[in-house]
Formats: sequence, C-alpha cells, structure tokens
Amino acid sequence: MEIIKSIKEMRLWSDGCRRRGQTIVLVPTMGYLHDGHLSLMREGRRHGDKVVVSIFVNPTQFGPGEDLSTYPRDLERDFNLAKDAGADIIFTPNAWDVYPQGFDTFINQEKLPDHLCGLSRPGHFKGVMTVVAKLFHMVAPQVAIFGEKDFQQLAIIRRMVTDLNFDIQIISHPTVRESDGLAMSSRNSKLSSEQRKSALSLNLALQNAQKLLNEGETRSDRLIQTATDLILSYPGTSVDYIHICDPDSLENVSTITGPAVMALAIKVGPVRLIDNMILTT
Ligand code: PAF
Repeated sequence: MEIIKSIKEMRLWSDGCRRRGQTIVLVPTMGYLHDGHLSLMREGRRHGDKVVVSIFVNPTQFGPGEDLSTYPRDLERDFNLAKDAGADIIFTPNAWDVYPQGFDTFINQEKLPDHLCGLSRPGHFKGVMTVVAKLFHMVAPQVAIFGEKDFQQLAIIRRMVTDLNFDIQIISHPTVRESDGLAMSSRNSKLSSEQRKSALSLNLALQNAQKLLNEGETRSDRLIQTATDLILSYPGTSVDYIHICDPDSLENVSTITGPAVMALAIKVGPVRLIDNMILTT
C-alpha cells in the first residue's frame, strides 16, 4: 500500500491506472477508521481493480462550535487497518492544498440539504459536496462507495453526481453495527462507558418503531413520540431530531404507506450520533 499526499501525484497515479484500463474505486473517509470503513473497502475490492481510501478531516463541513478540533485522529493506526483491508492507496491531502489561499468556490443543492441534519448543521452538506466533488476530481475514480448510515449524505451525493454529470458509479453499503446494535462511528470512541449504554437507545428506538408499524401503527407522529420517549428515558440523552421521511425526497411523511426512512440525530452528553432505518409496511 502506498501513501500519497500530493494532489499532483494522486492524479498521475490515477492517469496510469486508467491508461492500463484499471477501475479505480474511491472510499472517502475522515479517518479514525472502524469496521464500517473497512467493510466499505472490502466492498470496494469487489467493484474495481484498485481501492483508494482518502483520509481528510474536511474543515468546511464542520460548523462553528462543532467538533473539528477534537475529531479523533490516528493516521498510523488508519494506515495499518487500511492496508490489512486491502487498500492500494491512502490519499491524505493537506488542507492548504485542498483549500488554497482565497478559496471561494462551493457546491450546493437547493432541496435535499433542507431536511434532517441539514437543518441543525447549516452549511454542513455544502462542505461535504464541495470536498467530495474535489476528491472525485483529484482521484478520478470510476466507482465510489458510501455508507448508508449517512443516509442524507448518500442521497445528496447521488443527486450531485447526476446533476453535475460525474461519470462515477455510487455504491452504497449497509450500516455496520457493533454486536449490541450501535451503528459504528468514529465518534463512538468519544463515549464514556455510561454514555455508550445510552447510545444503544438509537437503535432500540428504530427497532421499536418497526415493531409498532408491524402491529399497525402507521402514524409518523405517534412513532416519533414513542421513539423520543424511549431515547429520553436513557441518561444524558437529548434529541436533535427524529423524522420519518420519503427515502428519495427526504420530505416528511405523516402516514406510512410504503418504504419510509426513520432518521434520527441524538446527543449523548456532548457526542452527536446519527442512525436510520428503512421502515417497511
Ligand atoms: O462521511 C464522511 O466521512 C465524510 O462526510 C466524507 C464523505 C468523507 C466527506 O468529508
């Protein structure tokens, strides 16, 4: 496995692969890799000849007061994990190369960011879209893999790829969970053991909503209220949002008549966690 820092070198490497007819798969990450990321890499291996893992903690997707400075980082550990998972290249560009002096060009969308996390993290998806588009230019992959845990991010990236005519296949991968159901996230490392127990409420609330739906409760407001009560019964939790929405438009649905996504963002102590589940009738 090779580590590339320079954007120019990244392009040269990709040009070489493309000339040889090889398919490049990109797995974009912000590092502090966990099994969820590693399963994206393994999935990546199935879709191409070369797997590039980008590790870049993107400053433009963090708002003021968010956890940019405390976001967990451990590059050496990441290198070893990615190597074992079969990555060919780790791409770790410098922030000053990605955002050169005077940087003033962003990508945005009109509708999808106006839901879910976009409401409580204004500007977050503008930063995500901008960096992902830049990574697509720098790495020039034919395939890119994203996790379904970031459901809104996935929907937004798919829209961006279609709208901006990127010739890149976007592949999604199901959320990877700990054995007790907690969705894997780099931020889980910031939870104390007490908070870790409370964090289980996210998955329990989702499972319970599906159970109530199976029993005939199709009203979203009832399902959301029950999920809120369940989560708040755990110490140290606060609810940022719980929504039940259309999986494509992300518009709220009031009565569930077909597949709908229940998405939630919860704070456990200072740690913000998200999770989601497709509810099926
Ligand atoms: O999902 C993430 O880790 C980030 O949002 C991404 C896609 C790597 C962009 O910084």
